Amino acid sequence: MDTSKLTKFYKKNHQDKITALVEAGVISGDEQSVLMNESLDLNAETGDNMIENYLGNYSLPFGVALNFIINGEEKVIPMAIEEPSVIAASSFAAKLIGSSGGFTTDIPKRQMIGQITLKDVSDKLAARETIKRAKRSILDRANEAHPSIFKRGGGAKDLEVRILGELDNPSLPSFLSVHLHVDTKEAMGANIINTMMEGIAPYIEELTGGTALLRILSNYATESLATAHCVIASHTLKTGRFSGEEVRDRIIEATQVAAIDPYRAVTHNKGIMNGVDAVVAATGNDWRAVEASSHAYASRTGQYRSLTTWDKNENGDLVGSLTLPLPIGTVGGAISIHPGAKLAHSILGQPSAKELEGILVSVGLAQNFAAVRALVTEGIQKGHMGLHARSLAISAGAKGKQVQQVADLLKEAPHMNLAAAKEILEKI
Ligand code: MEV
Repeated sequence: MDTSKLTKFYKKNHQDKITALVEAGVISGDEQSVLMNESLDLNAETGDNMIENYLGNYSLPFGVALNFIINGEEKVIPMAIEEPSVIAASSFAAKLIGSSGGFTTDIPKRQMIGQITLKDVSDKLAARETIKRAKRSILDRANEAHPSIFKRGGGAKDLEVRILGELDNPSLPSFLSVHLHVDTKEAMGANIINTMMEGIAPYIEELTGGTALLRILSNYATESLATAHCVIASHTLKTGRFSGEEVRDRIIEATQVAAIDPYRAVTHNKGIMNGVDAVVAATGNDWRAVEASSHAYASRTGQYRSLTTWDKNENGDLVGSLTLPLPIGTVGGAISIHPGAKLAHSILGQPSAKELEGILVSVGLAQNFAAVRALVTEGIQKGHMGLHARSLAISAGAKGKQVQQVADLLKEAPHMNLAAAKEILEKI
């Protein structure tokens, strides 16, 4: 990849952006035609086969975030997102973090969890021991229920038994939950796991004397944790008003607020998910699963907290990290069907599922850095409203060149809102 061809990318017009991506070796000639012909959408036949009562496509803007260096490798990152500032913020943060070396990632394991939740187990402690003793035969039966994943070197690898509820308070509901840890290889694995769980449920019922109430994947992907780290030299954080050290300390303090206060933590984490979801959606993954899993992880101590940590090291650098449980994949579902998802995987260089986890968590960390840095320095509105101006201009009815004209005048107007945009458009 020759990223020198992407210099001042945001200033290029739509066609020149696409040409620059070809010249940089990010997309092929065929992919260029797909973008030039605006054919990223599903065709009606595919859409009709994907969902019930299909009517048409609901589009999101598809773009790329630039400047990412992840584990020493340059990455152009596809995003599908309607919020105007996300790609700009991510690219800005990645550039600044890249000047200090970029992101490193750590993904020790990639397994998904399946759950069988049993009711009416009379002696849960004894049943737990029985299940543990039968571990080998349970794993074998799970793999027989889905032989193809086992043949590919994946399959059920481990088992855990949890008693849900309070044993010494029989008036409260309680259940026995049997977890399988499954290596789903490149797939997110929902279908693999659901097939396995339904396949072994009768055997688990036989072993425990209980009834299987639920047999399903858990989207809480705690066996698939991905972490991104970055170290940012403080002097690079300097703004007009604040020294680099002040900005660093303010970012650390803002994160302390999000660690203590759930009201702030939700917004702090929403900023992280701005970037993560945009890549999850672009790559054809299930953003509901990633959202649910991430917020559960943010509450793992019993209180909802910030997902990122920001601190300083002995050199005075700002040190950030983010860990997310990531139920995602690089095959299956919409990934091999949706033209946008196919293009996104190609732009990323057909990453493995582990690599995609590293990309997602790095984007989340970048996005959080951009948001918190802006909040603790100039505030968020300057950048947000600058980008929002064009959306307002379009809402007011501006077309073609008028959009930029209205947006520029709007930025200087006393109030940046739809009424002001309409007034400016009328004058033009
Ligand atoms: C806006 O979409 C996201 C932010 O609110 C995140 C944050 O406050 O950290 C700017």
